[in-house]
Amino acid sequence: MILVTGGAGFIGANFVLDWLAQADEPVVNLDKLTYAGNPENLAGLRDDPRHVFVQGDINDRPLVAKLLARHRPRAIVHFAAESHVDRSINGPGEFIQTNINGTFSLLEEARAFWQGLAGADKAAFRFLHVSTDEVYGSLGPNDPPFAETTAYAPNSPYSASKAASDHLVRAYRHTYGLPTLTTNCSNNYGACQFPEKLIPLVLLNALNGKPLPIYGNGLNVRDWLYVGDHCAAIRAVLAGGRLGETYNIGGWNEKTNLDVVHTLCAILDELKPAANGQPYASLITYVKDRPGHDARYAIDARKIERELGWKPAETFDSGIRKTVAWYLANLGWVENVVSGEYQNWMATNYQNRGAS
Ligand code: NAD
Ligand code: TYD
Repeated sequence: MILVTGGAGFIGANFVLDWLAQADEPVVNLDKLTYAGNPENLAGLRDDPRHVFVQGDINDRPLVAKLLARHRPRAIVHFAAESHVDRSINGPGEFIQTNINGTFSLLEEARAFWQGLAGADKAAFRFLHVSTDEVYGSLGPNDPPFAETTAYAPNSPYSASKAASDHLVRAYRHTYGLPTLTTNCSNNYGACQFPEKLIPLVLLNALNGKPLPIYGNGLNVRDWLYVGDHCAAIRAVLAGGRLGETYNIGGWNEKTNLDVVHTLCAILDELKPAANGQPYASLITYVKDRPGHDARYAIDARKIERELGWKPAETFDSGIRKTVAWYLANLGWVENVVSGEYQNWMATNYQNRGAS
């Protein structure tokens, strides 16, 4: 048994589905079901007794203690977080509450549980903390990519809250000996991503004939990793990572935002041409930049390849085609997530950006 937090979100759900497709080890899935958590992501597991879903907050310590005591997991894989940079700029409070306080609560309960174990169970226990490359800050065009030794320099409330949680995890290893592992991954894309992030947002807007908002000049660079590759990397770290270590995970796919959006438009032109005959790229609209917008992220993923033999299986071309195909085949999923709350967010984030 493993305990997954945030397993109804984008990466967590992909991880739970992948996990149960590969092994028979059951999963307890603790998720608060915020706007980003969607039980429909896990619909395929509805009648699967290996999946125990619990709606709850990682800050609810009695609940976490009860789940640990009842299910006695051999590992905790911690995805639960507030994850969107623009929302963190708009309202950082929830990011502090979940990403920092929530991780602290989980660490405290994990520590108490682990300290009560003995022998082989104690030795085998793992706390795997899923984090982001954004903790390292922003690179210039000629800087080397982020390595595990790069100094932390988070710039957004989101990345600062993740950096704080990484430091807490590190401290629990150093001070209490908790058997921790941390992964810092680049931008993910794939099935079930909430359409507030660049790729699904552009897909959805394009299909609805709406403007494709490009912040600033569109030349900011991100490294993109297919979510299935991220899940495989986490499994590899859980199975063989060295205790207390951090592993950077990336796709060796640096792209400007404009490149990504043009690629999406070209695939849509091919698979689902617009009814008005116009290329989707004609919807590209430059809008006011994100405050503090990080210029470039790039990941040096050689450590995880060297130590654990992991490297991405998908290229950007193969992964992005799978992703577009998934959204086109799951328009019902999209319709269901585009709820009132989503409309509120679109108004909050985009109404006053205008064209720059
Ligand atoms: P997401 O926003 O899609 O999902 C987050 C999930 O956590 C949701 O299901 C939500 O309901 C749940 N959650 C939020 N607060 C909670 C709380 N207090 N208690 C319990 N559950 C709670 O996020 P994601 O994109 O799947 O990211 C998952 C993790 O991976 C995060 O820790 C994020 O920082 C990290 N990460 C994401 C990316 C990316 O590109 N998306 C890249 C690197 C790292
Ligand atoms: P996002 O998907 O929010 O991920 P992150 O900020 O964590 O990297 O954004 C990816 C890039 O796309 C980032 O440089 C901001 C940019 N972006 C836009 O240009 N327009 C948008 O509407 C969004 C959501 C993002």
